[in-house]
Amino acid sequence: MKRRSFVANTALAAAAFSFIPSRNLMAKEVKKVRMAIIGTGLRGQAHLENALRRNDVDVVAICDIDQRMLGMASDLIRKSGKPMPRVFDGDPYAYRKLLELKNIDTVLIVTPWEWHTAMIVDSLQAGIKYVATEVMLGITLEDHWTVVREAEKHRAHVTMLENACYFRDVLAILNMVRQGEFGEIVHLQAGYQHDLRGVKFNNGVDPYDSGVEFGPKGFSEARWRTEHSVHRNGDLYPTHGLGPVATMIDINHGNRFLSLNSFASKSRGLHDYIVKKGGANHPNAKVRFKLGDIVTTHLKCANGETILLQHDTNLPRPYSLGYRVQGTNGIWMQVNKGIYIEGKSAKHHEWDDQQAWLDKFDHPLWKRWANKENENAAGHGGIDFFVLHGLIEAIKRGVSPAMDVYDAAAWSAVTPISEKSIELGYETVEFPDFTNGQWMYRKPKFALNDEY
Ligand SMILES: NC(=O)c1ccc[n+]([C@@H]2O[C@H](COP(=O)([O-])OP(=O)(O)OC[C@H]3O[C@@H](n4cnc5c(N)ncnc54)[C@H](O)[C@@H]3O)[C@@H](O)[C@H]2O)c1
Repeated sequence: MKRRSFVANTALAAAAFSFIPSRNLMAKEVKKVRMAIIGTGLRGQAHLENALRRNDVDVVAICDIDQRMLGMASDLIRKSGKPMPRVFDGDPYAYRKLLELKNIDTVLIVTPWEWHTAMIVDSLQAGIKYVATEVMLGITLEDHWTVVREAEKHRAHVTMLENACYFRDVLAILNMVRQGEFGEIVHLQAGYQHDLRGVKFNNGVDPYDSGVEFGPKGFSEARWRTEHSVHRNGDLYPTHGLGPVATMIDINHGNRFLSLNSFASKSRGLHDYIVKKGGANHPNAKVRFKLGDIVTTHLKCANGETILLQHDTNLPRPYSLGYRVQGTNGIWMQVNKGIYIEGKSAKHHEWDDQQAWLDKFDHPLWKRWANKENENAAGHGGIDFFVLHGLIEAIKRGVSPAMDVYDAAAWSAVTPISEKSIELGYETVEFPDFTNGQWMYRKPKFALNDEY
């Protein structure tokens, strides 16, 4: 096909494609956002605390199946002095009763991964126009397609609460990328590099150095997350690493992931931890964990960039998402806190300490909103404020959240696709285009100014 007719045909196809409106023209300006939260575990409580601090949010309903977690959430509400919301509990589908309420502007889904797709879809079908889920979107690739199709069908917004996109250093680097300091971006690196052994075997007594139990005897994520390490091998948690670098190269907004492959190392860390802490005769020492300790994924992008992504949660290590951003003019490496820009850095071939650069390019969002007086620097160094703020401000304006369902699907689908690659003997697997060609026309919308 000739280039001109190809472009014309794709433009027509794009126009015909049913799309979620980025602005709801009928929307009244909302002053107070009525929020429901499904899942009041440790993460749900962090969102709850931030929501209770805002005077533009009313928490109208909460739901959980665990009385201990509901009790902790209720304590937070009492302490805030705000009215107690409706509470739904008792069985795993109690959340459907919550979704029957007619006064919900947004629902936050903060439950184990295996519940996300069902809860998102039920929320959309209940008519909720802003559905926000904690990372991830689902388990299988089909889950991801289901969420995208349902969001389109209901012309509603689904956003994934990817707080890592709001780290102060990440946003300053995004600012530098957009101002061309690194030249043309060529390669990026990131990962979820977080020793989760204490979390995977948390017995609820001493959160980060407790037992070697999981499943029903575990507390919080040990109840459910550890099972994923038993049965799955892939990058099980890509989005804290991938989301930030994806925004820097406009994935789904002029660029897209084309393909990936993943390699998994042997699995030793979790077994070793159980033996060291619980002894070789502990029943859990017999569990065979399928998840490789280090899973390394390579992605290729339509505009030519490569991304190297790592999942590293089973071995002793300090926390680091390990971002690296490299272009034709220079490089940022988060691990050594260094930036080098050719012709601008102090010394030839030597790292500048990153701080002066980060201060100079501090993102307008942080400049405007980060101050101790209004307690905005809440949670994970402030990023939890921003991720909720982004959602609430989008609802108040009746517009699409900056991270939409296509972003959520692309970032989170790395998991099932990496599992497939490993299963196929580390084959390179094609990446689906959830936008159906729209990625070519969609304009970047994440963190464009100081508003949200
Ligand atoms: N963005 C971040 O920084 C961050 C940090 C931690 C966790 N998370 C994500 O948040 C989500 C929740 O993690 P968490 O650490 O709060 O786990 P958690 O186990 O502490 O909380 C999950 C809660 O969901 C409840 N639940 C389970 N099934 C339910 C159902 N059918 N109906 C109602 N409630 C149900 C559980 O009882 C529990 O209280 C996960 O997706 C996790 O990956 C994100």
